[in-house]
Amino acid sequence: MIITIDGPAGAGKSSIAREVATDLGFAFLDTGAMYRAITLGAMRRGIAFDDVLALVDYAQQANLSWKDDRIDLDEQDISVEIRTPAVTSNIRYIADPPEIRGCLTMQQRRIAEGRNLVTEGRDQGTEVFPEAECKVFLTASPEERAKRRHLQLQKAGKESTYEEVLMAQNQRDLEDRMRPVGRLRAALDAVVIQTDGMTSCDVKQAVLGIVRSNL
Ligand code: C5P
Repeated sequence: MIITIDGPAGAGKSSIAREVATDLGFAFLDTGAMYRAITLGAMRRGIAFDDVLALVDYAQQANLSWKDDRIDLDEQDISVEIRTPAVTSNIRYIADPPEIRGCLTMQQRRIAEGRNLVTEGRDQGTEVFPEAECKVFLTASPEERAKRRHLQLQKAGKESTYEEVLMAQNQRDLEDRMRPVGRLRAALDAVVIQTDGMTSCDVKQAVLGIVRSNL
């Protein structure tokens, strides 16, 4: 069984998808981490971001591996570095070209083979697993998402204002909604959960309810 959880940045997809996967005993895939890892690898290798052929070539042979919350590139833990603003600001060079998306789509399908999987991202229910048994689109207002993200950053001791977080998030939403292939949108057969005012426990129960109704 494949469960897809798509939605915009800051909607809480990763933590909910991870918890749902644990509850159901399914594998979990964070496809944003894949896009981030390829971005970081290309930066480290000095591959020009306008050289799509070189980027596809790199995406095909990048040495990525996962274990629980940890993601390794060339056998080195990159779980923290892929979340830095430098990587985030360059992701569009990897996420925009359809050729690179095609390569990551193939890898994501390969990972799903023979597995029960909860997979989260932007295009999982639309492009990568259009036949998935259960599709969720998790969202919240831009203000609510920015508020949550700002709180997270404060807790982690990272300086930023709410307005800065909201502006960066709006920019990323725009980029994610505008790309020609794999853009952020709900699949026609996805159940949309608007999470404003819900606790993460409420959201998890809502997702599990949708999964049960698809069994
Ligand atoms: O989910 P996360 O915020 O880590 O994703 C980082 C970026 O990777 C997104 O803003 C989006 O541009 C890209 N992405 C994508 N398709 C996915 C997952 C992520 O284009 N399936």
